[in-house]
Amino acid sequence: MNQPKRYTITAALPYTNGPIHIGHLAGVYVPADIYARYQRLQGKDVAFICGSDEHGVPITIKAKKEGVSPQDIVDKYHAIIKQSFLDFGISFDNYSRTTAKIHHETASEFFKTLYEKGEFIEEVTEQLYDAEANQFLADRFVIGTCPKCGNEESYGDQCENCGTSHNATDLINPKSAITGATPTLKETKHWFLPLDKHEAFLKEWILVGHKKDWKPNVYGQVKSWIDDGLRPRAVTRDLDWGIPVPVKGGEGKVLYVWFDAPIGYISATKEWAEREGKNWEPYWKDKDTKLLHFIGKDNIVFHCIIFPAMLKAEGSYILPDNVPANEFLNLEGNKLSTSKNWAVWLHEYLQEFPDKQDVLRYALTANAPETKDNDFTWKDFQARNNNELVAIFGNFINRVVVLTNKYYNGIVPKPSELSAIDEETLATLKAFPAVIASSIERYRFREASQELMNLARLGNKYLADEEPWKVIKEDKARVQTIMYVALQIASALAVLSEPFLPFTSNKLNKILNVSSSAVENTWNSISDGQELLPANHQIGKAELLFSKIEDSEVQAQIDKLEANKKANEAASKKVEAQKDEITWDDFSKLDIRVGTILEAEKMPKTKKLLVLKVDTGIDTRTIVSGIAESFSPEEVVGKKVTVLVNLAPRALRGVESQGMILMTEDASGNLVFVNPDENDKVSNGLKIS
Ligand code: MF3
Ligand code: ZN
Repeated sequence: MNQPKRYTITAALPYTNGPIHIGHLAGVYVPADIYARYQRLQGKDVAFICGSDEHGVPITIKAKKEGVSPQDIVDKYHAIIKQSFLDFGISFDNYSRTTAKIHHETASEFFKTLYEKGEFIEEVTEQLYDAEANQFLADRFVIGTCPKCGNEESYGDQCENCGTSHNATDLINPKSAITGATPTLKETKHWFLPLDKHEAFLKEWILVGHKKDWKPNVYGQVKSWIDDGLRPRAVTRDLDWGIPVPVKGGEGKVLYVWFDAPIGYISATKEWAEREGKNWEPYWKDKDTKLLHFIGKDNIVFHCIIFPAMLKAEGSYILPDNVPANEFLNLEGNKLSTSKNWAVWLHEYLQEFPDKQDVLRYALTANAPETKDNDFTWKDFQARNNNELVAIFGNFINRVVVLTNKYYNGIVPKPSELSAIDEETLATLKAFPAVIASSIERYRFREASQELMNLARLGNKYLADEEPWKVIKEDKARVQTIMYVALQIASALAVLSEPFLPFTSNKLNKILNVSSSAVENTWNSISDGQELLPANHQIGKAELLFSKIEDSEVQAQIDKLEANKKANEAASKKVEAQKDEITWDDFSKLDIRVGTILEAEKMPKTKKLLVLKVDTGIDTRTIVSGIAESFSPEEVVGKKVTVLVNLAPRALRGVESQGMILMTEDASGNLVFVNPDENDKVSNGLKIS
C-alpha cells in the first residue's frame, strides 16, 4: 500500500465524570501518542485529536449526587483530565470538548443532514419510564439483566460485562437507577438509525475488506455483532442534558451521547484547523488521509459499526483505516474501578513520582494489554524502571557522556580505523529504525518498546566488550573510535526513544547538545547510515536520565491501594438484617458481665486464637477468643471487656473456653471490643442489662 501523507489520529474522548487513570493511559492515550509522534518524525502531516465527552447520563447522575450542575462537573473534570494529558506528554494537536459551541453546531448539522437525506426512521415507541421521578429511563438511568450474557447489572444501552450494546427495552427485570422503581412503558417519539440498512456495506467493508489488517479481537467482536443481525438504534433521548434535537418534533429531546461524541472528533479537527489557519476537510474527506481510532475494547461497536454507518449515511466522509482497540488493564490482580477507587489516578501518581512520566509511559507500554487483558503491578513497574530504564538505558548514556567528558572534555573524538566489531555494531544500529517502525505501524507497541531497549542493550554490551576504560591505558587512538561509535548509538537513542519517552529524549538531546528540531527526519537518516554526531561536536555534562525506585516507595503505593479498598468495602458494607424477634425471657437468659483481661497468650499453632484469663467479678476463668489477628497478647492485657459468662463451655484445641468476649467490627473490618467505659465506675462483675 502507498504510504498516505496525511494522518487523522483520534483517541477516545474520555467521559468527564471523573479523573483518568493508568487504564486509560495504557489502553488508549499512550499508544495513540506513540503512533502520532512516530508519524510526525516521519515527516507526515498529522492531526492528533481528542477532547472531553461531556454529555451522557453518568454526568447528570454525578451532578445530582454532588448537588451541582452538570456543567460544573464537566468543567471540573475537563480541566483535570486536560492537565493530566499535558503532564504525561500526550501530544494532541487539539484537545477540545463536546460542550463547545463548534461541536454543538457540527453535531446538529450532521443530524440535520441525515434527517434531510431520509436516513432516519422516525417512530413513536414505548420506552421505559419512571413515574416516580417523572422521567424516561435511557442508558445509565436503567439497570437490568443483559439479554445476551445474563449480567444482572447491565445498563440500558450497554452491558459492561459482554460489551453488547442494546436498547433499554431489551433488559430483563429493568429497574430505575434513580428511584429503584420498576419502570412502566410510555410512548415517545424518537429517531432511529437503521443499522440493518447498512449491514451489507459493513460486511463488505470490514468482514471482507479488513479481515487481515484489523486486530483479531476487534474483527471478532464486529463479526459477532453483524452475525447476530443489526437493528435500528435510537439516536435521540428524552433527557435535558445534551445537544438539542434540531428538527421539528425534537423539542425537549437531545442527541444520544454516542451519536454526538464521535462527531466530536470532527468538531475538534475543525477547531484546530481554524486556529492554525488550515482547511479541516482533507483530514476527514480526502482519500489520501489515513483515519485511525485509538480506543478501548468497550468502544468497539460504536467505532466500527455505528459511527461508520453514520459517516457512510452522510456520504462525504472517509472511513477509518483501522481501529486498533486494546483490551483492559487490571491493577494488582483486580479490575480497575473508579467507583471502588481501585485505580492509580494520573494526577495522584504525579504528586508522588514527579518527573517520572516516562517511567509510567514505559511500564504501561512494555506491558500493554494489546492482545489480552493485562495486569499492572507496582513490582513490575519498579522492575521496568530499575532493571531496564536505569540499569540499561540510563547506565549506557551515563557511561558514554561521563567518559566523553573525562577523555575529551566533551568533544566527540575523531574515529580511526573501524574494527569488525565496530562495523557490525554500526550495521546493527542501522537496522533499528526499520524494526521499531514496523512494530509501530502494526500497532505492536510493546514489541516496539522492547526493540528500543534492545538498542540500549547493544550500546551497553559494546562498551562492556570494548572496555574503553582499560584500553585507554595502552591505545588512546582505539578509544577515540570506541567512544565515537558509542556516541552514535547514544544519539540514535535520543531520536528513536522520542515517541515512547518524550521527556527523556528531550533531556538526552540537551545532554548531547542537539537541537530537538534536528530530531525530525533523523529517524530515516539512521537507517541510511548517516553520521549522527560528527567529530568535534561539543556535548554537555552528564545528568541522570532515570533514578532507582526503592522497595519502600512501591510498598507505599500497594498499601495505599489496600487502604482504599478497605475503606471502600466498609463504606459499601450492608448493615445486616435484623434477626427474628426474641422475648424478654430469651434476653434475660443471657448473663453479660463486665470483666478485665488479666493474662493473654497465643494458642500455639494457631493464627487466630488467644487464650485469655479473665476476671469476671464472679471468678477468674479461661476464655479462648478468636482475636489474635487483630490484637497482640500485650495489647489486651488490662483491658475491660464485656463477657457473656453463662455460655456453655466448649473445648477449642483442647482448652476449655468458659464464656465469650463480645466483639464487633469497625468500618474497616477490624475487630473492636464492645467496651464498657474504661473507668473506675464500671467494676468487674457488673451485669449488663
Ligand atoms: N466517552 C467514551 C468512553 O469513555 C468514549 C467516547 S469516544 C467517542 O468510553 F468516539 F465517542 F468520542
Ligand atoms: Zn452482557
